[in-house]
Order: sequence, then C-alpha cells, then structure tokens
Amino acid sequence: MSSKDMSSKDADRRTPTALVVGASRGLGHAMAAEFLGRGWNVIGTVRNTTARTPLHDLADRSGGRVRVEHLDINEPAQSASLRERLAPHELDVLFVNAGTTNNEQTPIGAVPTADFVEVMVTNALSPMRVIETLEDLVSPTGLIGAMSSGQGSITNNTTGMREVYRGSKAALNMFLRGFAARQAQQSGTAERAFVLMAPGWVRTELGGPDAPFTIEETVPRVVDVLLSRLGRPGLAYLDRWGETVPW
Ligand SMILES: NC(=O)c1ccc[n+]([C@@H]2O[C@H](COP(=O)([O-])OP(=O)(O)OC[C@H]3O[C@@H](n4cnc5c(N)ncnc54)[C@H](OP(=O)(O)O)[C@@H]3O)[C@@H](O)[C@H]2O)c1
Repeated sequence: MSSKDMSSKDADRRTPTALVVGASRGLGHAMAAEFLGRGWNVIGTVRNTTARTPLHDLADRSGGRVRVEHLDINEPAQSASLRERLAPHELDVLFVNAGTTNNEQTPIGAVPTADFVEVMVTNALSPMRVIETLEDLVSPTGLIGAMSSGQGSITNNTTGMREVYRGSKAALNMFLRGFAARQAQQSGTAERAFVLMAPGWVRTELGGPDAPFTIEETVPRVVDVLLSRLGRPGLAYLDRWGETVPW
C-alpha cells in the first residue's frame, strides 16, 4: 500500500494520533506542533510533573487536540502507567524523541562511569523500554520511530569526539533494528514501519548555538519523512531529506 493510500485511508477512518515522547521543548515540541498543524491529534509527554512547558501552551491553543502526559523515560514504571492511561487508544505514530548528551569533548576512556550510564540508558535502553511497553497501542499499519542522529552512524564516524553520545545512538540503532526484526516475524505486526531519524545538527539546548540549522527549517522535513514511511513496512535509518544514512 502506498503512503498516499495509507493517508487517505486514515483520514477516512478517523483523525490520526501521534504520541511524541519528550515533547516539552526543542525538536519534540516542534514535532508535536507540526503534527497538530497537519490535522493530527497529538499526545505529547513531558518529564516534569509541575513545570509549565511550551507543550502546555500548545495544548492550550489546540482546542483539545493536544493531550499532555507525564513520562520520565528512565522510570519504567511510568511507561507502564502511561500505557494504562492510554489504552485502548490506537496510535498511528509512536515517536520517542527524548535524549541527552554530556562529556562531548572527553575521549571515551576518560568519561566518568556515571555519565556513560546516564547517556546510554537515556538514549538507548529507555527508548526501547518505552517502545516495548507501548508498541501494542500502535496500529498494525502504524509507525514506530526514535530520534537517532547522524552521530550514530559507525560508517560516517571519521572524526571521533562526542563519543558516548555517538555510541548511545549507534546502540539505539542496533536495538530498534533487533526489535523490528523480531516484529517482522510476528503475524499482525509485520506491516509496521520503523524509522531511526537523523535530523541534522539543529540549534536547540542539546544542539547548542553553533548548530547550522533551525528547528523551523528542520522539523517539517522530519515529519514529511515520517509520514512518507507510513504503510511501508520495515526499518529505515533516514535523514530529514528521506535519504538513507549509512549504518
Ligand atoms: N539538536 C540536534 O542537533 C540533534 C541532532 C541529532 C539528534 N538529536 C536528538 O533529538 C532529540 C531531541 O533533542 P533536542 O535537540 O530537541 O534537545 P533538547 O532541546 O535538549 O530536548 C531534549 C528533550 O528530551 C527530553 N528528555 C531528556 N531526558 C528525558 C527523560 N529521561 N525522560 C523524558 N524526557 C527526557 C527533554 O525533556 P525535559 O524538558 O524534561 O528535559 C526534552 O524534551 C534527542 O534525542 C537528541 O539526541 C538532536
């Protein structure tokens, strides 16, 4: 089925829903706004249970089409609670955007163990735990994605540095690949699309002020690429132009 067929089928059926995990600010917040602008319903998660975030402002302006949920992806019990609150909601897109970095200028051998664990758990293990906990809410023809990075490419790493971050995104790529391979063997979920997204170097808190690209020029292309993959089974590691990133 082509993505065009899939989109029109969804539109006929009901308003599609995207769950964006880690939508308080930065790329995740902008993705939530972009899906909303394209007529989708959005569930966005924030980590802090008390602070007001840009996602709350978006929800206030959305006429009830943006729902704010709470999730610290490093707390597995919170993913289980979220699943209970959302069931039996059907998701068309589940996208785990949340991520972190530290010690970017430190060679891997000098990185403190606690810092290594924090980045690896947040960027590689926790997104997979979220996906494994929530995946049965995703439509059999829906899409499961995670925010990877071009830094996760082993092939393209010719400069070193940002070593824990690179390793965490390469690990995320490997783990989602394993998950997609397992799903391909299960009847009923074999039609799902999976995307590892490499958005480019973008000016956010994580990307820093020297990044060449803005959120505004990046996120519409990210969402274009995700929507283009709906109805196309299998895993792709893509940049924001829809080009495959070397693994
Ligand atoms: N900016 C870039 O150049 C770039 C390039 C490639 C990939 N990426 C990836 O894109 C994603 C978003 O990054 P960004 O640039 O938008 O950074 P950002 O502005 O720093 O936003 C990071 C987001 O992740 C959330 N988060 C972090 N740890 C979390 C946790 N344990 N549980 C739940 N949420 C958590 C943050 O929530 P809080 O508000 O609660 O902290 C925030 O919403 C990350 O996965 C990053 O690795 C970014």
